[in-house]
Amino acid sequence: MSSNELRKKFLKFFESKGHAVVPSSSLLPDDPSVLLTTAGMQQFKKYYTGEADPVKDFGSKNTTSIQKSFRTSDIDEVGDERHLTFFEMLGNFSFGGYFKSEAILYGKEFLDSIGLEIGYVTVFAGDKNIPFDEESFKIWEEAGARDIRRLGREDNFWGPTGGEGPCGPTTEIYINGIEVWNIVFNEYFQKADGTLGKLKTPGVDTGMGLERLAMVSQKKENIFETDLFEPILDILPGTLSERQRRIISDHLRASAFLLSDGVEPSNKEAGYVLRRLLRRSFVYEHINVLSPQIFESIMLEIIKNYENFYRDLKERRDGIIDSYWKEREKFSKTLAKGIRELEKSENIDGKKAFRIYETFGLPYEIIKEFSGAKSNALTRGGFEEEFKKHQEKSRAGAEGKFGGHGLILNTGELKAKDEHELSKVTRLHTATHLLQAALRKVLGEDVRQMGSDITAERTRFDFSFPRKLTHEEIKKVENLVNGAVAGKLEVKMEEMDIESAKKSGALYFFKEKYPSRVKVYSVGSPAGEFSKELCGGPHVKNTEEIGKFVIVKEEASASGVRRIRGKIIP
Ligand code: ALA
Repeated sequence: MSSNELRKKFLKFFESKGHAVVPSSSLLPDDPSVLLTTAGMQQFKKYYTGEADPVKDFGSKNTTSIQKSFRTSDIDEVGDERHLTFFEMLGNFSFGGYFKSEAILYGKEFLDSIGLEIGYVTVFAGDKNIPFDEESFKIWEEAGARDIRRLGREDNFWGPTGGEGPCGPTTEIYINGIEVWNIVFNEYFQKADGTLGKLKTPGVDTGMGLERLAMVSQKKENIFETDLFEPILDILPGTLSERQRRIISDHLRASAFLLSDGVEPSNKEAGYVLRRLLRRSFVYEHINVLSPQIFESIMLEIIKNYENFYRDLKERRDGIIDSYWKEREKFSKTLAKGIRELEKSENIDGKKAFRIYETFGLPYEIIKEFSGAKSNALTRGGFEEEFKKHQEKSRAGAEGKFGGHGLILNTGELKAKDEHELSKVTRLHTATHLLQAALRKVLGEDVRQMGSDITAERTRFDFSFPRKLTHEEIKKVENLVNGAVAGKLEVKMEEMDIESAKKSGALYFFKEKYPSRVKVYSVGSPAGEFSKELCGGPHVKNTEEIGKFVIVKEEASASGVRRIRGKIIP
């Protein structure tokens, strides 16, 4: 069965069992305990704990999703037959709707329905704190499972590795010796200190990797032979080693998805993960002397194969390709020098490796791979320690520079040091929403926010547009903004989940990381909305509070990006 069919069948199956189909959340989670989304249950955490009501939000206590997931911990393993950084996780979830019996029987019924036979299953054997999961054992027995194995906490207990969260015993389904489906029974809540308490309402959380399911369904030897990877691998020349081909296809696929969620290559957090994936691929491209167009074709092929299911890939296609080339260009200046430096260096330890990273941009993985025995003393831990030291130093520097001002508002975009400034910044902030709407009305819908910065004195707004604005255009934009001010339009805020917000047509800033519930500010009556944007606020209640808005300057900010400075005059 093709992976497309598997996705559809999975969602249809659980929909037919009363589950609400919920779209994948972003790879950038709303959950500070993880850098990137690692499982389908992440967006549902608050329904397990009772903080939020699933019936209110989804109309059901049971949901199903296909979640974009990323496991940084598997980066070093990629290249073998089954490890990936990015993967799609098929899941069904229940928050007090059903428990062990239904979860197990649904699992079996679904696999039967797509013609797959279970090899064996595992259940939690129990340990000194938590009893053997006899209930699951019996359910499997009655369902006709012949091979039921009991395993310990290591294998059959799921929960946050660090920090807080729901957790509990699991039962896992194996086909052809491969674990395909993990069914978690969330009965406990792990506190930050590692102790367990009982959850009021037990819940179900399951995860099945689409790539592995496709592999067993398509009767392939490994995930790279499935229809998810074949079209990508077909583009790569056969002269590359199998390991390199797998790494490149995994890393470029993961990069396309990270970019589609608004991550940009950088030296911290998710941006740093993305940078490493891209740069490792660029090193392989360099040493194999590949034509630079090959990887672009792969990126485009990935977007094409996934865009019908993941719309952000389609909507952001040009931006993804653009960011890809920018990172390639940035790295190409130092890549060859970095490799030469590696060849010259002896004894590469954490300190030396970090210096090579800092000077030439070579990621840890590459330094380790290409320096052979010279880097025996180098470990990821040692490298990261140097990284941390460096970040602490630069953070101390930044605080020294910007600290001590006592800002009462600092969202990154908006800054105010007292109530007086706050009121001005708030007025300018709403004016900036009007400005973006006016620019799109005058220059077309391709105009998109590329950045903004607002102080009590002025707003500075960057947007995508290929040329200088004419005098007439600037006047038109200004008049539209002041028309909206004169119209005394009401500013309304509504809270909703991110997917509904995007669907509502509200503008959003793709570089921004949004939580799963967001605020949408709209200006004007629903029948004649002047502006609608995802935004954290603050805003005025009515546009009349803004006053007269003037554009003081229009200039280039970067290639394809214009910058407008605007003020309010008293
Ligand atoms: N949350 C469980 C997992 O990631 C299903 O395996």
